Amino acid sequence: MTKTILITGGSTGIGAETARQLAPGNIILVHYNASKIAAETVAGEVNRQGGQAHLFQADLTTEAACVALVNQVAQNVDHLDVLINNAGGLIQRQPITELQWELMERIFALNVFSVMKLSSLCLPLLRQGTKPCIVNLTSIAMRHGAPSATIYGAAKSAIDAFTRGLAKEVAPDIRVNAVAPGVIETPFHEKVTTPEQMQAFKNNTPLQRNGQAGHIALAIKMLIENDFMTGETIDVNGGLLMR
Ligand SMILES: NC(=O)c1ccc[n+]([C@@H]2O[C@H](COP(=O)([O-])OP(=O)(O)OC[C@H]3O[C@@H](n4cnc5c(N)ncnc54)[C@H](OP(=O)(O)O)[C@@H]3O)[C@@H](O)[C@H]2O)c1
Repeated sequence: MTKTILITGGSTGIGAETARQLAPGNIILVHYNASKIAAETVAGEVNRQGGQAHLFQADLTTEAACVALVNQVAQNVDHLDVLINNAGGLIQRQPITELQWELMERIFALNVFSVMKLSSLCLPLLRQGTKPCIVNLTSIAMRHGAPSATIYGAAKSAIDAFTRGLAKEVAPDIRVNAVAPGVIETPFHEKVTTPEQMQAFKNNTPLQRNGQAGHIALAIKMLIENDFMTGETIDVNGGLLMR
């Protein structure tokens, strides 16, 4: 059965690969912010693989933009089966001694407030869907700490807690789960991680490699398909952190 799936941050990295993997037979609503050309490429790939892509642009760091995005989505489709809250990022590393309020606000607006607001705004569309579910993206950073990325880790922890709270609040109608990626080779790291740091992550990972976007897309797909899972966060990190 055709699923209607909204993927935030579908232009690059994990979101783009998830769009590609979910494409066959499905309607994929690909959200992007700055990467228009990349998003158009993803939409082309979705269409070529037998899906139907629609593109939506929004900078999700304001409430108004989240509202406008969901309004646009509602003008295009009458329901959602899946919401993937994937847009996010570390934005900038900053030692805690130099911490600026404005950076904290930007990190939380992108990684926390947009996820909470979009989840809330999409509930009516999800309630019209079939076996609807939400998948959030957290991070290994919330579990083992990340020097100079402490605010980002704390933001992802907020989404971990939000995932469980929301899962109880909207059960049994809607399932809510999360994936916590380890170090995944995507544009995410281009501005915030040096090649030496990427190599050090590999060396410290039992599987001796960093992950690819496809590893996370597979976990997202599993959470969409397994309708006995809710309130769960799945770690996918090559063993970098074992619990
Ligand atoms: N890569 C990793 O190692 C890793 C590890 C743990 C968790 N994660 C999480 O996984 C998710 C996907 O990350 P990724 O690795 O795929 O990174 P990515 O390739 O940098 O993708 C990030 C996506 O978020 C979108 N985005 C960024 N700022 C935005 C804004 N202000 N408004 C709306 N959208 C915005 C980007 O859109 P545009 O490019 O169109 O602007 C892009 O599509 C994120 O939530 C990230 O925190 C990643």
